[in-house]
Amino acid sequence: MPGDKSISHRYAMLAAIAEGASHLHSFAESVDCQSTLDCLKMLGVQIDRHGNEVTVEGAGLDGLRASAAPLDAGNSGSTMRMLAGILSGQSFRSVLGGDASLSRRPMRRIIEPLTRMGARIQPAEGDLPPLIIDGGRLRPIHYDLPVASAQVKTAVLFAGLYAEGVTEVVEPCPTRDHSEIALRQFGAEIGRRERTTFLRGRGRLRAQSLTVPGDISSSAFFLVAGLLVPESDITFENIGLNPTRTAILDFLKSIGGDISILNCESHNGEMVGSVRVRASVLEGGEIPAELIPGLIDELPVLAVMGAQTENGLVFRGAQELRVKESDRIVAVAENLRRMGAEVEEFPDGLRVPGRQRLTGAEIASYGDHRIAMAFSIAGLVADGTTSIDDSDCVQISFPSFFETIAHLTR
Ligand code: S3P
Repeated sequence: MPGDKSISHRYAMLAAIAEGASHLHSFAESVDCQSTLDCLKMLGVQIDRHGNEVTVEGAGLDGLRASAAPLDAGNSGSTMRMLAGILSGQSFRSVLGGDASLSRRPMRRIIEPLTRMGARIQPAEGDLPPLIIDGGRLRPIHYDLPVASAQVKTAVLFAGLYAEGVTEVVEPCPTRDHSEIALRQFGAEIGRRERTTFLRGRGRLRAQSLTVPGDISSSAFFLVAGLLVPESDITFENIGLNPTRTAILDFLKSIGGDISILNCESHNGEMVGSVRVRASVLEGGEIPAELIPGLIDELPVLAVMGAQTENGLVFRGAQELRVKESDRIVAVAENLRRMGAEVEEFPDGLRVPGRQRLTGAEIASYGDHRIAMAFSIAGLVADGTTSIDDSDCVQISFPSFFETIAHLTR
């Protein structure tokens, strides 16, 4: 599986403001992570990339330079929101924009805390990108996150690197903690007590040599395929098994999925191991609300899977799906219907009855990588041919996705 997208973004950003040359191995192939590297280059950071090996010459905490042109985060919410934290601590102005999808995504959630820390951020109408960010001296804040969002948590922590004193972020429930692990790895003073993360600002970050684990969210498509396609038996090696990302494994096992973790060890603070999946009869059921933040990116493919379970699948509490790269509740419901399936939409979730035959159809990807990949897996188990529009959007997180399907179905 390709290198983890979430971790790659964080390693690149922290390497850029660390002191010395960082070496990042198995860096994500994803176009989103290339957007992060391109933005960092525009900020004066020297970056060399050979395939998935990336060397970042750290500029130090105060070594970034104003970009002459606007920064382009492309399709990447992570790039925009997390980099905004770093840009808030700079003594210069930055303009940070993105593609049509990103330009429709809510930014109030980062503008609010970063403004409280002392940055001046001017969004386009309706709190949307592009953002004009006038950074400056920041003060630490105590921030209660109103939404369970790792991107927002990270924006505040990255800005906290520039604030004199201790920044505190409280999460309503745990979200992926790759930023905290990476910050510690790069030498930041960071701790956690219950739901609160503490970070002391103005410390020096030191360059690192780090290997990015395989992306469990990319594996999710093939985990589901392996469970659904008769006689499948797939082993994934070097997959990230950080407990804040493995809710999908817990859920799939709980409904009868034959999934085993073959080994698991810690590398640079992140858990990494091998996972084996074999075709299974799946009961289905309800995804518990407390698991939702831990498998938010996997919901489209889980919903597709729901149609093939014995009892169907239901989940609520996932209103965040409405503001991802597309409105994923609409996109999943619409495409399941195109394949002849029954599905019920809620404001914050979906119900997909079980034991439904899927029929090959023309799928609208909405330019959303996870919709294109989820419905490719639907196409594998459907009768007839499925075609997916704008399927190139898989490049956003998993450029080798179609080669991988071809390889596994030979
Ligand atoms: C991400 C966090 C999640 C996730 C996104 C990547 C991250 O978004 O959906 O794909 O790398 O921190 P939110 O933090 O907005 O929930």
